Amino acid sequence: MKLTIFGTGYVGLVTGACLAEMGNHVVCVDIDENKVARLGRGEIPIFEPGLEPIVRRNHANGQLEFTTDAASAVAHAQIIFIAVGTPSDEDGSADLQYVLSVARSIGRHLDRYAVIVNKSTVPVGTADRVREAVAAELAGRGAIIDFDVASNPEFLKEGDAVEDCLRPDRIVIGASSERAVGLLRKLYAPFNRSHDRTVVMDVRSAELTKYAANAMLATKISFMNEIANIAERVGADIELVRQGIGSDPRIGYHFIYPGAGYGGSCFPKDVQALERTARGVGYNARLLEAVEAVNHDQKVKLFDFLLSHFDGNVRGRTIALWGLAFKPNTDDMREASSRRLMEALWDAGAKVRAFDPEARDETRRLYGERSDLVLCDNAYQALDGADALAIITEWKAFRSPDFARIRAMLKEPVMFDGRNMYEPAVVEEAGLAYYGVGRGRSVSRSKVS
Ligand code: UDX
Repeated sequence: MKLTIFGTGYVGLVTGACLAEMGNHVVCVDIDENKVARLGRGEIPIFEPGLEPIVRRNHANGQLEFTTDAASAVAHAQIIFIAVGTPSDEDGSADLQYVLSVARSIGRHLDRYAVIVNKSTVPVGTADRVREAVAAELAGRGAIIDFDVASNPEFLKEGDAVEDCLRPDRIVIGASSERAVGLLRKLYAPFNRSHDRTVVMDVRSAELTKYAANAMLATKISFMNEIANIAERVGADIELVRQGIGSDPRIGYHFIYPGAGYGGSCFPKDVQALERTARGVGYNARLLEAVEAVNHDQKVKLFDFLLSHFDGNVRGRTIALWGLAFKPNTDDMREASSRRLMEALWDAGAKVRAFDPEARDETRRLYGERSDLVLCDNAYQALDGADALAIITEWKAFRSPDFARIRAMLKEPVMFDGRNMYEPAVVEEAGLAYYGVGRGRSVSRSKVS
């Protein structure tokens, strides 16, 4: 099929590449000329496993094109996806300026029927606003052209985006016309060979489905972090509790890992936006507010541990930090817990020596050169001259460290594990005090060591 995708960010680029890989002819549009030129040369602006080869292959065989020319891109397509960013407004609601500007551009160039599909996470009611924006442009030039606006939210996870896109667990289609549903079903038919993964619904339900999914996942994490905070205080071990509750299939083992809070481009923004949406329709979403509040505090969990360990003062200390990205397998630093931790440490007069396998360039871009941040080339280099080690991203490369070497290199033998990667007993055997999240026993042990 002939497809156009507006926006070559995470969602747009991955969706475009994967749909091209499935045999469609995809044109990706972006207003950023430099980005389009780079993509045309096969340079991928983000680190995402498996993405580069499919972009290059499909670009080389003509199935995937990049352009800044909205007119030709709109003329090309039977289905036009909007996958541009929806950043947070100052009040936390989603800023739709990019989505609506694309809608107007589509309206200016549309010359025959097409389905316009919102792929970005957009508040309930956005499809109506897109429809109005397109219709106003059509009316402005006196054109009478039929079109539909549908919602087809994306559920991909960074780091697994290509896999999630090629093998989705569900395909949500929100559309009000048979024609639009028919075209989208045809597009996704190759993904449904073993069984039908498509869930067809009205547009507003589809829009809300995306927020509900992210809010549910964020809730699971904040819930576990809250239980971890209780576990710490009552002398229980959250890791045992996690296994104990995960064995109930109604709860399940997935997504109940406590830690230093959730980050990324979706959960923080979407929980806030849904809460604002609820408020806008006269409902006070107390649970969502609490999910956000717990996460806000959890991001400085390791800082609190550090402060308490160093008797309330980290001024002049140097903290080694393993991990900067908001999660492993990405270089994305959006809403990363590492940022809140580093900023709190800097405010308190401490220095940071950090290592991340992928996110160093992004960190440099965000913070520039500063005397209280050294970006290291490997994990052990970060320990050089450091007082303590904090771990905030659970990269595989950090799973089996040489604890004795860590012990020997640190000025103070103590490790703060923001992702519960290690067994307290193993770390302590190597002579290191250990702080995990919600692991009461080890915290009390570390205090006496
Ligand atoms: C998320 C959703 O998973 C995806 O379906 C949606 O389309 C976009 O948002 P992503 O932001 O890429 O994807 O990351 P995800 O793997 O879900 O992790 C989000 C954050 O939650 C990370 O900071 C991670 O460290 C944290 N997390 C995750 C936990 O703290 N505990 C867990 O058990 C799982």
